[in-house]
Amino acid sequence: MTSDKITAPAVRARKKTGPKLAVLTAYDATMAALLDEGGADVLLVGDSLGTVIAGQPNTLSVTIEQICYHGRAVLAATRRAHVVGDMPFMSYQVCADKAVEAAGAMLREGGFEAVKLEGGEVVAEQIRRIVSVGIPVMGHIGLTPQSVHAMGGYRVQGRTPDARAQLVRDARAVEQSGAYSVVLEGIPADLAREITASIDIPTIGIGAGPHCDGQVLVCYDFLGMTRGPEPRFVKHFAELGEAVLAATRAYVSEVRDGSFPTPRHSYSSAQTVSPPADPEAPHGAPS
Ligand code: KIV
Repeated sequence: MTSDKITAPAVRARKKTGPKLAVLTAYDATMAALLDEGGADVLLVGDSLGTVIAGQPNTLSVTIEQICYHGRAVLAATRRAHVVGDMPFMSYQVCADKAVEAAGAMLREGGFEAVKLEGGEVVAEQIRRIVSVGIPVMGHIGLTPQSVHAMGGYRVQGRTPDARAQLVRDARAVEQSGAYSVVLEGIPADLAREITASIDIPTIGIGAGPHCDGQVLVCYDFLGMTRGPEPRFVKHFAELGEAVLAATRAYVSEVRDGSFPTPRHSYSSAQTVSPPADPEAPHGAPS
């Protein structure tokens, strides 16, 4: 482990020390290397991969094997960021024993440094048991995408007095069960402020306003690569979707008119002795 590697205790300590936690999702090695080099504190291999990678309408079909496959790729390319894996739907809800086994498999097969699971009071026992075997747990309350059907869609949560009170209880239950941080998704900003002030573990917001101890966004969203309508909490920090479209159009046009490849991008048969290896070339690429 490098000396500047961010650990679960270091994430927890940021509640008191700051700065705020900058969290992004990642699903592959190329993206993870860039986000890590850019200074993201935490990379989350979210079950959002069901929608953004697999193109499914929701996250419910994601499996532990899929999360672990993407986790290994992200871990392989990450030097500094803390890497968390999302526990898939029905891998932890049934009972605490199954939850411990699933969390263990995620560390063993995926290499994760912590797991995240959705729910408050109803999964308190699962969190407590997973933490008791030495696996750090990040909670996730508010708009919990694995409950999309129960919520009747992806709707902001905590807008009635009862729902607000329940979310405050959920946050306390997650903290008291031993979680080291908690995601607050899709709740009013003033409720997120109240929860953030009432617990001693960092809150990481997504669609929960500016008062959390950190923020998380899906990497394709913050890079402007997602097509179609987006929730209001998404901010584009780049317009890579437009850049990909422009690059693809240019490539298609150059292939069609023959201006790519040029001699610069071609090999000649005259060269008989291999030149020194190009340190910039990817492994296995001919130079
Ligand atoms: O699955 C995911 O990517 C998430 C974050 C957006 C919080 O749960």
